[in-house]
This record gives sequence, structure tokens and C-alpha cells, in this order.
Amino acid sequence: MAFWRKKLTKSIPSKTSETPPKHVAIIMDGNGRWAKQRGLPRTAGHAAGAETFRKIATHCKDRGIPYLTVYAFSTENWKRPEEEITSIMKLLEKYLMEAIEKMAQDKISLRFFGDLSPLSDRLRRLCEETQRISLTYQSEIQVNVCLNYGGRDEILRAARACALDCMRGKLDPDHFTEKDMAKHLYTSEIPDPDLVIRPSGEIRISNFLLWQSAYAEYYFTDVLWPDFDEGELDRILKAYQGRKRRFGGV
Ligand code: IPE
Ligand code: IPE
Ligand code: MG
Repeated sequence: MAFWRKKLTKSIPSKTSETPPKHVAIIMDGNGRWAKQRGLPRTAGHAAGAETFRKIATHCKDRGIPYLTVYAFSTENWKRPEEEITSIMKLLEKYLMEAIEKMAQDKISLRFFGDLSPLSDRLRRLCEETQRISLTYQSEIQVNVCLNYGGRDEILRAARACALDCMRGKLDPDHFTEKDMAKHLYTSEIPDPDLVIRPSGEIRISNFLLWQSAYAEYYFTDVLWPDFDEGELDRILKAYQGRKRRFGGV
């Protein structure tokens, strides 16, 4: 084998299937359909979905997964009826007020990915306060909540920031790198997701972590998010461990 080839194969190891995921990302979808199946208003589905989130975040922590990122509200979800948006925001407030009380005890820290500026003052302040408190104790899992988040919006913001650095002479427009871009993403301090899960039967990505998921393993399941439980996550983790990741190598 030519020496350069040997060197290249060595520098890009394919991860063995036993490596547990460091970062799991979930599109929490199917709340509305879950409610409809039961003759309930969509808002009841969102309330049930919030309970599932609590349960799954704890389970990820118990499984030793250091990062969980969940999609809670997309930049496109503003298209929904105003009353549904209001009820989702109210649920978020309620969740955060409860979470603040016991985050330290639960050893869970929270971050928010997305543009929080269009949120109500109250919700935005709660998000900021939650993030601030999260930095004050040792946690076992960092949970990132994507709120008014869009993958394209995130990439656009990073591109704008790089353009500004170019104008200021801090970056060379012909030579700035993927790393320079990644520095301006919400995920700048954490690894890319290893596993992206979408419940609800939809086989699409809906503008979630577009940059970061370039080499993620995807798992799609028909289970609706409020019905998603620890057993389902364990089955998915097992399936993930059977996958062979090559990252373009051999
Ligand atoms: C996901 O559930 C929650 C949000 C997008 C806020 P949906 O509300 O999209 O549920 P379905 O897809 O209509 O069942
Ligand atoms: C994706 O679900 C966004 C969240 C789960 C927050 P959607 O229900 O908004 O996605 P689409 O419209 O089915 O693609
Ligand atoms: Mg949906």
C-alpha cells in the first residue's frame, strides 16, 4: 500500500459499532396526531410530549449519554395557529419553572439553541436564567433545547459572522475553513450528533441540525413522541450499536 494511503486510513478510523453515542438528537414529533387519536385537542398532545421529554432526558443520563439535543419549536412552527403557539410557549414556561427547581439535584444542565429574541420577555428570561444556573453545578448530561431553531437560519448566521470577520480582516475569505464556520454554530462547544432520531413516521429532517448531522446515523420510528419510552430508546441505541460508521473511509 502506498505510504500516503496508509497514513490516510490511519487518520480516519471507522468507529466500531460498540462505541456508544456521545450525542443523541431527537425531533420530538407526533404530539398532534397522538392527541387526535384520542379525540383530544392538540395542546393535550404537547403536554404529553413534555412529559416524554422529561422521561427520556433522564433515561439518556442514566445510559451515560453526555449530550442530548431536542427539537422543541422550529423557525417554521410560527406558521401554526396562534393559540397552539401560545399553548406550546406556556408549556415551555411551566416546564422551565419546574426544571429550575431541581436541575442541580437531577444533574441535568440545559442550553437553548435558536433565536430567542422573538419569544416573550418572560420565557426568554426563564431560558437565560436556566442557562445561567446550569453553569453553577456539575451535571451528568447537557440537554440542548432547540427553540425557534432552524438549521438554515443557523448556517446563515454563521456565514454572516464569518463575512463580518472577513471584512474586519480577521478571516481570509478564500481560506476560511469548516472549523471557522462551526465556531459560530450553537453547537460550537459540543460534538456533532452521532444519532438523530425522528419518531412519528415522518421520514424527513425538517431543518434540524443540517450542518452537524453530515455524518449522523438516522433512525426513524413510527412511534408518536408522547408514546416514546425508555424501551424504544434502548432498542434504538442497540440498533445504533450495530451500525458500521465509516465517515467516508473504508
Ligand atoms: C411536534 O408535534 C411538536 C412541535 C412541532 C411543536 P406536532 O405538533 O408536529 O405533531 P404532529 O406532527 O402534528 O402529529
Ligand atoms: C419538526 O416537526 C419540528 C419539531 C418537532 C419541533 P414538524 O411537525 O414541524 O415538521 P414537519 O412540518 O412535519 O416537517
Ligand atoms: Mg409534526
